[in-house]
Amino acid sequence: MKTIIEKVDSENPQKYEAVFMKAASVIKNGGLVAFPTETVYGLGANALDPIAVKKIYTAKGRPSDNPLIVHISDVTELNDVVVDVSEKAEKIINAFWPGPITIIFKKRELIPMETSGGLSTVAVRFPENETARFFIKKCGVPIAAPSANSSGKPSPTKAEHVKFDLDSRIDMIIDGGACKFGLESTIIDVSSEIPCLLRPGSVTKDMIEGIIGEINVDKAVLEKLSENEKPKAPGMKYKHYSPKADVKIVKGNAVDVAEKINAIVRENMIKGIKTGVIATEQTRDMYKCDNILVIGSLNNPEEIASNLFDVLRKCDSFEVSQVFVEAFDEDGVGMAIMNRLKKAAGYNIINV
Ligand code: TXA
Ligand code: MG
Repeated sequence: MKTIIEKVDSENPQKYEAVFMKAASVIKNGGLVAFPTETVYGLGANALDPIAVKKIYTAKGRPSDNPLIVHISDVTELNDVVVDVSEKAEKIINAFWPGPITIIFKKRELIPMETSGGLSTVAVRFPENETARFFIKKCGVPIAAPSANSSGKPSPTKAEHVKFDLDSRIDMIIDGGACKFGLESTIIDVSSEIPCLLRPGSVTKDMIEGIIGEINVDKAVLEKLSENEKPKAPGMKYKHYSPKADVKIVKGNAVDVAEKINAIVRENMIKGIKTGVIATEQTRDMYKCDNILVIGSLNNPEEIASNLFDVLRKCDSFEVSQVFVEAFDEDGVGMAIMNRLKKAAGYNIINV
């Protein structure tokens, strides 16, 4: 299959009517279209069409028990797909939609089990990105979309990442430039008395608690689960975000971290193991290594979040076999950054 790639200006998608008409006709014919959102690129299909949805799983190599997020182009479309919108859900919707937060609801019959991964609930997201909203609106149906990467790889934050992973496996890519936040949406389940954060993102725990009071954090967000434990978001159990290299996180004060990493880089050089370091603008000069990737400034965690997946993908182009990364503060968006990094590292953390 030939994958069509069409560029649009995310500031003014209306100008590109023809591109969206083409994308909508692909969706109506049961095909797959990758599209930008403010978080990461999504791989969209008609959420109501089980055959189209199955193609998503095949293209990504995704396990079929991992449910998809259903995307809508306006809050008025929510009642078409879910039942029982609680008071707390209403508050979250009013505060953060459209935006980078996904809410779990009880699903309506018309959402097929293929979309919800066999669950009676469905995850719904109303994105803020204009291109995403325009695309969904033109399709005229809710759009099921996981991140548009091969399963297990870092999520795509640029159209070129989607092309690298899925070229010739999907019908179309709408290129709307780099994603604003660069980390997948926050996921919250409001079905229990105390709502539960299933995946941290750019809408932080503090921001949510400021609106609805105390929430719990699913254990899978912060630590590795044992074999017999199940995360509430099925996708959190799978290995994620991994470049080909082994990633290791090093935690401690900056001087000790740099000393430890430099010692390993030296030893690896003797053994002929090519090593990379992910550093910040403030720490880059502390490393003696030929392959340093700068992820952003410690003063700007949002910048670190938006560069994270791009930097993890660049590790592959450096062809290193080990990558060391400093641990970041887990406050605010730092919880989401460290959640993704821990998964990329298979929870491999060296404390110094
Ligand atoms: O930012 C995002 O959320 C992006 C963009 C494209 O919207 N999408 C995304 O989708 O990250 P995906 O499939 O990569 O991650 C969806 C996560 C998975 O961990 C899945 O298990 C969980 O959401 N999920 C989906 N439906 C669920 C449900 N009914 N209950 C619990 N978890 C659910
Ligand atoms: Mg994903």
